[in-house]
Amino acid sequence: MAFVFAVTGSAVGLGNIWRFPYIAGENGGGAFVIVYLLCVFVIGVPIMMSEIMLGRRGRRNPITTMQLLGQEEGGGRQWRFVGILGVGSGFLILSFYSVIAGWAIAYVFRNAFGVFIDADPHAVDGIYRVLTGTWWKSLAWHTVFMGMAVFVVARGVERGLERAVRILMPALLILLLMLLAYSLSTGFFSEGARFLLYADFSALTPGGVLVAMGQAFFTLSVGMGAVMAYGAYLPQQTSITGTTLMVAAADTLIALLAGLIIFPIVFANGLDPALGPGLAFETLPLAFGRMPGGIVFGTLFFVLLSFAAWTSAIGIIESAVAWMVERRHLSRVTAASISGAIVWFLGIATVLSFNILAEFKFLKGTLFDNVEYLASNILLPLSGLSITIFAGWVMARISSCEELDAGPGGIYKCWHFLARLVAPAAVILILVEAATGGMISRLFAA
Ligand code: TRP
Repeated sequence: MAFVFAVTGSAVGLGNIWRFPYIAGENGGGAFVIVYLLCVFVIGVPIMMSEIMLGRRGRRNPITTMQLLGQEEGGGRQWRFVGILGVGSGFLILSFYSVIAGWAIAYVFRNAFGVFIDADPHAVDGIYRVLTGTWWKSLAWHTVFMGMAVFVVARGVERGLERAVRILMPALLILLLMLLAYSLSTGFFSEGARFLLYADFSALTPGGVLVAMGQAFFTLSVGMGAVMAYGAYLPQQTSITGTTLMVAAADTLIALLAGLIIFPIVFANGLDPALGPGLAFETLPLAFGRMPGGIVFGTLFFVLLSFAAWTSAIGIIESAVAWMVERRHLSRVTAASISGAIVWFLGIATVLSFNILAEFKFLKGTLFDNVEYLASNILLPLSGLSITIFAGWVMARISSCEELDAGPGGIYKCWHFLARLVAPAAVILILVEAATGGMISRLFAA
């Protein structure tokens, strides 16, 4: 159970409440959500199982684990590059994650001071713009958040966190249910729910499918060696399948809840579902400003969101720190400080993307858009692909069977089929389809 809580703590974060609704909104809603759900359970779950399994077998940091298992299974030590790719994507992801988490902390205070009481959408938008549009404010909160994350990792108090997660997750769920009650009261619930759940596949582009897959990796924390680092602590008799399914189910539930809360508020206030990264920050305060007890619940909500982001951020740095401590013989404090400094520095790009460099656009948009796209939609799938190819093709069946065969017979076969064939094929198809602007579906249509 401790492991389930720790992994849930890393999986549930900004990815569920901030990222999922906004990219679902940008990609047209329903059809995107269905593809996302398929990606979570058909690609994400088997890859997550592979990642945890490799972590438990290697019992080291992700880079060393991949190197050792590579040698042990006859694939060569160069498999360590998969670990390196994962840790590298982690740094990139955390660089923007920390900036957004900083905003969440800032919103704790804005709520507590009653700034949102009876505010209209225009006023809420103004508050969001002042925070994100003033580079030093955003940078200051980014610095606070990174400091908090580095502090915990440096002290190595993950055990305390695991206990905290046991209280925080249920509390977050209760607050989400209260928000859901508010959304039901807006009179626009069915419109919001239809947007999120009614599948209009004509709105879905090949690029959208890739974004859905990237989100599946992002939200499950898969493809970064992070759950591999957690797996290193998993007792031998615990079922990897059961654990993974529980985490995936909890994570999906929270993301869908966030969507069901946010979109009715969007429609009730005439906002644009494709608002972008500000979506959660422009809708939820509206709800808190109008519901009874909004100051208390709003403040509590942003505290919990900051905590959820905190537990995730710790999971992201942990794999790099574990590697520096085990292989480079640095102290935890030094390793955490170095990682934190690198991430903080990279994060400046995201901070400036919402103010000074807001007009500096190329490829996918601002610097932030590009970092986010590269890390989530290209690096995570590539490293997830390598992990599943390793687990399904390089690793001997006896080895993986030994780790995964805990459950009833069919489960191992099912995992093996998904991890060896379905997941790699799907990742490759989706990457190629997006890179070529829909070549594969055109071939099929012809
Ligand atoms: N899953 C986290 C979220 O949804 C973010 C995340 C991505 C993460 N990769 C990770 C967290 C690795 C911990 C470890 O917010």
